[in-house]
Amino acid sequence: MFNARRKRADTSRIEHMLTMKRQRAPISPNHHLPQSGKQSVALHANRGLAGNDYMKHPSIIPLLVPQLPDRRALSPYLDQIDQNRHYSNFGPLNQSLENRLASSFEAHCSHPIHVTTTSSATMGLELTLHCLGLPPGSKVIVPALTFVASFTAIIRAGHVPVIADIDPESWLLTPETASDVAAQTGAAAVLAVAAFGKPHDTKRWSAFRKKTGIEVVIDAAGAFGSQWVEAADVPVIYSLHATKSLAAGEGGIVVSGNPAINARVRQLSNFGINLDPEAGLPTGHLSFVGSNAKLSEYHAAVAHASLDQWHLHAGQRQKIYRTYRETLDAACGDKLQWQSGSAPAAPTIFCVRMAEPARNRMEKICQSRHIATRRWYQPLLHKHAEQVTPTIKMPVPIAESIASGLIGLPFSLFLSSDEITRIAEAARQATATHRKQLSPHLDHHG
Ligand SMILES: Cc1ncc(COP(=O)(O)O)c(C=O)c1O
Repeated sequence: MFNARRKRADTSRIEHMLTMKRQRAPISPNHHLPQSGKQSVALHANRGLAGNDYMKHPSIIPLLVPQLPDRRALSPYLDQIDQNRHYSNFGPLNQSLENRLASSFEAHCSHPIHVTTTSSATMGLELTLHCLGLPPGSKVIVPALTFVASFTAIIRAGHVPVIADIDPESWLLTPETASDVAAQTGAAAVLAVAAFGKPHDTKRWSAFRKKTGIEVVIDAAGAFGSQWVEAADVPVIYSLHATKSLAAGEGGIVVSGNPAINARVRQLSNFGINLDPEAGLPTGHLSFVGSNAKLSEYHAAVAHASLDQWHLHAGQRQKIYRTYRETLDAACGDKLQWQSGSAPAAPTIFCVRMAEPARNRMEKICQSRHIATRRWYQPLLHKHAEQVTPTIKMPVPIAESIASGLIGLPFSLFLSSDEITRIAEAARQATATHRKQLSPHLDHHG
């Protein structure tokens, strides 16, 4: 039972979260779930469940429960800020964060790595696309199955998104599809997305770049720990948003093997002002039109504390993910399709495909049982508002087919085995009346 003070505190945190995420998606809040020791507030919840419903149903299973470092874990870093009296503008915590991250990336490649923090992955994407030096209005290929930020970053960088199809197994854009689409459209760059944390082979993209002359950037917003930067010429951008495994609340990092890209992103993140005495332009003069996309020292402090806990939490996330998937497979047999390859190093969302009618039934069953669900990355990019232009839309039958059966289910470090059992029972019922096995790729109706 909640006392009134606890309820008030929860409500104000919920309001804060709602404000924070209003742009992203329809959101309903959740309260603490004291029976399982949950301390966080859910950011996302099922469509159709109003905020107050969560107050009434302590048995609700929220979609995501972020886990950020608590005040004790933050305190050594906050002490440093107090001593430094440096709060933004590439301060010491920001510097040491970039160095720590560069070392961890360098352990997975054979070239020096450069890391530049930004205020979000979205800004990291936009500024990196600027740095490619493409003529304004260049065409940039992007997969249909991604978060809208990949798309808006291209338009805001002054270019034209070319929405392309995905691979039926990996659910990712491939170099082969990008080659075909580039041949048809004259695209000058590709923004490939590590959807649901599944990594790209950066060496394959580097080979594509060398062969075609087409630039490649990877949006790995949710793939920290899974996506590495093995090719020096393919920059990769990660998100430090509260829902990600390396969470700072908000933030992003641009990681590349090309120091010129990172130096330019840094300059663009500071309005475009020249800070380099060697640049042939007085320092303090504007050399490019940038923005304010710097990471504050407070966010760097949270990212440091998050990094301290990353391996522990990644291991726990992996374990929950494995049990969850095995339990669902045991309940539903061959009626589920998973994104190919192994699970991400630190899963933060849980997405599975079933036949479209089963997915629709699952949503209804979950709603009635207070289990939150989400159609991640939907509508697909080509279905967004007509006035969001300019855009070139290629046929995307595979993305449409995959999306027609995709369902995002609850996932967090707090998910209990009882909750997994409840979700698996819902999935068993949703898929039970389905007559045949899910056909490989283009099964809309099953
Ligand atoms: C694929 C993808 N790209 C970009 C973003 C945006 O990241 P941020 O919230 O850090 O701007 C997200 C956020 O979840 C994402 O999933």
